[in-house]
Amino acid sequence: MNWDKRYPSIPDMEAAAAKRMPRFVHDYLVGGLGLEGAVSRNQAALQDVLLLPRYLSDARDVQLETTILGKTYAAPFGIAPLGLAGLLWPNAERILATAAQAHNVPYMLSTYGNISLEALKTETNVDAWFQFYPPEPADLETDLLQRAQNAGYNTLILTVDIPVATRRERDIRNGITVPPTFNLNTLWQMVTHPGWALRMLRMGIPEFETLKPYYPPGPSVTTSVKFIAEKMEGHITPQRFKRIRDQWPGTIVVKGILNPQDAQDYLALGADGLIVSNHGGRQFDAAPAAPTVLPMIRKAVGDDVLLMADGGVRSGLDIARLLALGADFVLIGRPFIYALAAMDKHGGNQVLWLLQQELQQALAQLGCDSVAKLPAFLFEPHD
Ligand code: FNR
Ligand code: LAC
Repeated sequence: MNWDKRYPSIPDMEAAAAKRMPRFVHDYLVGGLGLEGAVSRNQAALQDVLLLPRYLSDARDVQLETTILGKTYAAPFGIAPLGLAGLLWPNAERILATAAQAHNVPYMLSTYGNISLEALKTETNVDAWFQFYPPEPADLETDLLQRAQNAGYNTLILTVDIPVATRRERDIRNGITVPPTFNLNTLWQMVTHPGWALRMLRMGIPEFETLKPYYPPGPSVTTSVKFIAEKMEGHITPQRFKRIRDQWPGTIVVKGILNPQDAQDYLALGADGLIVSNHGGRQFDAAPAAPTVLPMIRKAVGDDVLLMADGGVRSGLDIARLLALGADFVLIGRPFIYALAAMDKHGGNQVLWLLQQELQQALAQLGCDSVAKLPAFLFEPHD
């Protein structure tokens, strides 16, 4: 199969995904909340970032390799943590982790993953970071951190931008429960999407594998999941952050930064890096997009701090845009599921290949021979 011809861009994969995924699952993937302004703003803000080519230069040998946190990756981007990835597309985590390993980019496993943090490490050799939603009470938090450490994780992504559970209207409308309970409507959606449904039957209904040991004994998994979700809420206050910092000998990257003051404060408390993100527009509809706040945050923290960013990236060029604005590394979420829905087990490799091609081409066109030099190509019309 010539996948490039069939899906020459991520929007092509996105269109296929809309057809191939049952609607209630697709809604959970693409949705935001309210009028979904933050979701559309993420892509719009990227479109507004312009780069100025230099044609009097020789950039045939474009360098995408990037070293962060002591590791050299093949490209300056990684796979963002996606909760319930295995429900969005059956076996998503294993397929994506294997592809990330083959392409030498990091894979970020969500606390709400459908593969346990231990299994990911034993089944693949991928460079995996563990995304952490700290649960209360403290002994649960300690146990999870200890498990991540025992399994060999070094980088912890501490996501701080879900202090409260949000009302996502699409999910409310669809009556989404986790794991899904099947009413006539959802059954119909599954019957009419046999590609997804048959794979799901083969894999079994996904569960929160990492959190399973903490489910209280009870009649239904749904009740247990609700119990867990309630334990995950709350602000990551300075006290809570310090408690986690004291227990984690590795690197802590804080995800969900929008405010320059938060950026400075988390660094002062001992964060090793920051991810500028509005959670794909899924938590707060008035949240600014990363391109809007990234320059301010870079200015506030200085040049030496590890800054990553995400939200709305749909091409290699979008990656270049965030790097030009001051990010050192970029995370990408939904496109990986679009790719799996379009190409199943081929999707991970294909989309990683495509993003690299597009990024390489953008740099060559700009006359920029390394990703680190991209900020010099930002077009700032007001200067
Ligand atoms: C997410 N995101 C997310 N973030 C996180 O820290 N832990 C998580 O479990 C999840 N789960 C999750 C599920 C789904 C379905 C989506 C779409 C997103 C946010 C994610 O890591 C990332 O910040 C955004 O997805 C980036 O935006 P794009 O690339 O999807 O536009
Ligand atoms: C979400 C949670 C899992 O965005 O972070 O759906």
